[in-house]
Amino acid sequence: MSESIVVSGNTRQEKYASLLPQIKSLAEDNAGQWAVLGNIMSALKYGMDFFWVGLYEVKNNELILGPFQGTVACTKIAFGKGVCGNSWKDKKVIIVDDVNTFEGHIACSSDTKSEIVLPVYDKNGQVKMVLDADSEHLANFTQVDETYLKQVVAIIENVINI
Ligand code: SME
Repeated sequence: MSESIVVSGNTRQEKYASLLPQIKSLAEDNAGQWAVLGNIMSALKYGMDFFWVGLYEVKNNELILGPFQGTVACTKIAFGKGVCGNSWKDKKVIIVDDVNTFEGHIACSSDTKSEIVLPVYDKNGQVKMVLDADSEHLANFTQVDETYLKQVVAIIENVINI
C-alpha cells in the first residue's frame, strides 16, 4: 500500500477524483477500523486542504469525538446541538456557508468559517457517526463536496459495518 497521498488536478472535482481511489486503498488495510479511519481523515485534510476534518461517533446518545485531523476539538456534542447534532437529528447533509449565521453553531475553533457535515449510517439505517469538514474560508463547501464526501462516507460505512 502506498504510504503517501498524491492529489492531482486543478479543480476540486479533479482533486476528489484523484483522491478517492487512494482512500479506497487505505480502507483495504486490515489493521483495524481506527487505523483506517485515522488515515482516511489525514488523506482528506491534507489532500483537500481542509482546516479540520473528523468523525464524531454516537455513543450513549451523544456525539463523541473520534478520529480527526486538525486542531483540538470539542469532545462531546448533544443530539440536535450544533451543525453535527442537527445532521444527526435530521439525518441529512448540512452545508453552512457562514458558521456565524447558523444558530447554535458550536465553535471549536474561531478560525472555522464554513463547514459541511454528513451522517454515516450503520447497517440498520441509524446514524452511527457524522463526518465534519471545516474550512477557514467562507462558503468553501458546495454540491461538489457533498457528492464526493458521500462517496467517502460510503467507504467509511464499509469499514465500520463489517
Ligand atoms: N462546528 C461543529 C462542532 C464540531 S467542530 O467544528 C470540530 C458543530 O457546530 O457541530
